[in-house]
Amino acid sequence: MTALNDPKSIFQTEHRALNRWIEKMITMCQPDSVHWCNGSEEEADTLFSQMVEQGMCIRLNEKLRPNSYLFRSDPRDVARVESRTFICSQNRDGAGPTNNWEEPRKMRRKMKRLFKDSMRGRTMYIIPFSMGPVGGPISKIGVEVTDSPYVVVNMRIMARIGDAVLEALGKDGFFVPCLHSVGCPLEPDQVDVSWPCDPENTHIVHFPEERTIVSYGSGYGGNALLGKKCLALRIASTLARDEGWMAEHMLILGVEEPDGRKTYVTAAFPSACGKTNFAMLIPPKAMEGYKVTCVGDDIAWIKPGEDGYLYAINPEAGFFGVAPGTSAQTNPNAIASCSKDTIFTNVALTDEGDVWWEGITEEVPEHLIDWQGNDWTPQSDSPAAHPNSRFTSPAENCPAIDPDWEKPEGVRVHAIIFGGRRMSDVPLVSQAFNWGHGVYLGATTGSETTAAAEGAMGQLRRDPMAMLPFCGYHMGDYFRHWFKMQRDLRETPRVFNVNWFRKDEKGNWMWPGFGENMRPLKWIIERATGRAVGIETPIGWMPRYADLDWRGLDMDEATYSSLMSIDRDRLRMQTLQHEELFLKLFQHLPKEMIFERELLISRL
Ligand code: GTP
Ligand code: SPV
Ligand code: MN
Repeated sequence: MTALNDPKSIFQTEHRALNRWIEKMITMCQPDSVHWCNGSEEEADTLFSQMVEQGMCIRLNEKLRPNSYLFRSDPRDVARVESRTFICSQNRDGAGPTNNWEEPRKMRRKMKRLFKDSMRGRTMYIIPFSMGPVGGPISKIGVEVTDSPYVVVNMRIMARIGDAVLEALGKDGFFVPCLHSVGCPLEPDQVDVSWPCDPENTHIVHFPEERTIVSYGSGYGGNALLGKKCLALRIASTLARDEGWMAEHMLILGVEEPDGRKTYVTAAFPSACGKTNFAMLIPPKAMEGYKVTCVGDDIAWIKPGEDGYLYAINPEAGFFGVAPGTSAQTNPNAIASCSKDTIFTNVALTDEGDVWWEGITEEVPEHLIDWQGNDWTPQSDSPAAHPNSRFTSPAENCPAIDPDWEKPEGVRVHAIIFGGRRMSDVPLVSQAFNWGHGVYLGATTGSETTAAAEGAMGQLRRDPMAMLPFCGYHMGDYFRHWFKMQRDLRETPRVFNVNWFRKDEKGNWMWPGFGENMRPLKWIIERATGRAVGIETPIGWMPRYADLDWRGLDMDEATYSSLMSIDRDRLRMQTLQHEELFLKLFQHLPKEMIFERELLISRL
C-alpha cells in the first residue's frame, strides 16, 4: 500500500518534543505500523477504500451522494459520555464541582494500563492538526495519535491537517498532544469488527496543566475527534483563561442588511439546540435584502483585538451536524453542505444507496436499512436514524459560508446571544441591561437535555453559557473570567437571550423557528448597533410587537404577547433556585453574580 510510510522512517519532523512523545506512544501502544497523515486527498481515498473493503463503511451512491460514506457505530457508542469525561487538574478545586475529577497521577497510571499494547494489530495514525487557519494569530496546533482510520477521515474534514501544520509547528512550536485509542487490540488472526470500541472502559481525560488529552474506548464524535470538544473547548478554555481570551460553545454568523451593512454575532446554545440551524439561517422571502452568512456552527474562539473590540474565529473547518430534523425546509444550507464529500454516521440507508433520517422528507420510504443495519419499514417502532446521528461535511460546501470565514484575525463581534430549549417561562428574545447582567443571564441559562449526550432527555438542567460539559476548569472562575474580559475592552458586545422552543398548553410550538428566527435576529443586530427600540422589563429590554419586522408572517399581537410574556412569580421562584448553582460554586463565585441576582429579584 503506497500511502503508508515506511515504519522505520518514523520521525518526519525536527520537532524534538514531538518526536520524543511519538516514540513513547509507539513503545506504549505497540502498533503494527505507523502512518503520518499528510492530509492529501489520495491518502483519504486510500483509507476509505480500505475501510469499505473491511466492511467498516459503505460507499454511498456516487450519483446521489458523491464522495460520501456511511458508518454505523456500535449501539453502545453513539454520543458523548459526560460521566466518563474527566478534568485531571492537580487539585480537585481546579476542576470544580461541575466536572469529574481524578488525581492526575492516579489517572495517568490507569491510562497507562489501558493503553499498554492497545494498538496491537492496528496502524497508529499521527494527525498534525491546526484549530483555526494554519499559522493564524488565534490558531492552535494539536497532534492526535489514533488507531482509528474513521477518526483520520473525520479530522481531515473538521480541522486543517497534515504537512502544512507540521511546517507551521517548526522545530519548537507549541502543540497539544492528543492520544486516542478505540481500545481493541487485535490478535494475529483476529477478524476486526466494523466499529471497534470499549464502552466499559471509556475515558475522556484532560490534563489542563500539562495541556494534554487522552481518550480511550470510544470512536464517536467529540469523544474521539480530539480537536473539537477536548482541545477547542476544554483545553482551550484553560488556555483562554490564562491568556485573556475566550473559547466558547458558540456559532458565529454574519447578517448582511439591504444597504450592505454587515454585523457579526455569536450564539451559545447547548448541544442539539439549534446552533447549526441558526448559523445557516435563510431569511423569509418577504425580508428582501437580508442575508445570513455562516462563519461557524459550534465553537468560537474570541479574542480582544488591538482596537479594543472582540474578534472571533471558527477553529473548525467542517460541520459535525445533527442529522434528524435537517431538511430542505428547515436548513437548506446544511442539506447542500452534506450533498457531497460527507461522512454520515448512524443515519439510515435507502435502497438506492442514499441516506435518510427522520424529518429529511415528509414522505417516509417503504424500506430502509436502519442505523443498526436492520431492515426497517414505516411500521417499525424504533427510529431509522439514531437521534444523535450526524453528518461530517466540509465548511466550504456550505452555500452560505462567509467570505471572511477563514480570516486569521477573525470577525468583529457585535452581539452575544444565549439560548436553550425552554418549553415555558423564557420569552422569545430579550436584551441584557449591560455586560454584568448579560454574564448573569448566560451563567444561569437552563435547557432541556437532548440526545447529544448519554442520559435521559427533556430534563431541565442549568447549563451555564452552554459550557457545562465543556469548561476545562472551575465554573465559578469561568464566570469570573467573563466579568474580567470587560476590563480590557473598549466596548463589549451587547448580550441577548433567545428561546425558540416555547410551547402552548396543548404542547404546540408557539414560535415557527428556523428562517423566521431572522425577525428577532434583525432586532438584535439593530439593538447591538444602536438602531432599534424596545421597552424595559424586569428581565431586560424587549421588543414590542411593533418593534419587529412581521412582513410575510401571520403573527397576531395576542400570540406575540404570550410568546413574550413573563410570569413574575414563577421567575422570582426560579431566580431563587439559582441559589443551588451558587452554593455549588461557593467560594469561586464572583461577587458580581450575587449583586446581579439581588438586582433581578428586586426588579421582579
Ligand atoms: P451540537 O452540534 O450538538 O452542538 O448542536 P447544535 O446546537 O448545532 O444543534 P442543531 O442546530 O443541529 O439542532 C438540532 C435540533 O434543533 C433539531 O432537532 C432541530 O429540529 C432543532 N431546531 C433547530 N432550530 C430550531 C428552531 O428554530 N425551532 C425549533 N422548534 N427547533 C429547532
Ligand atoms: C455537542 O454535543 O455539542 C456536539 C457533538 O457538538 S460532539 O462533537 O459529539 O460533542
Ligand atoms: Mn456542540
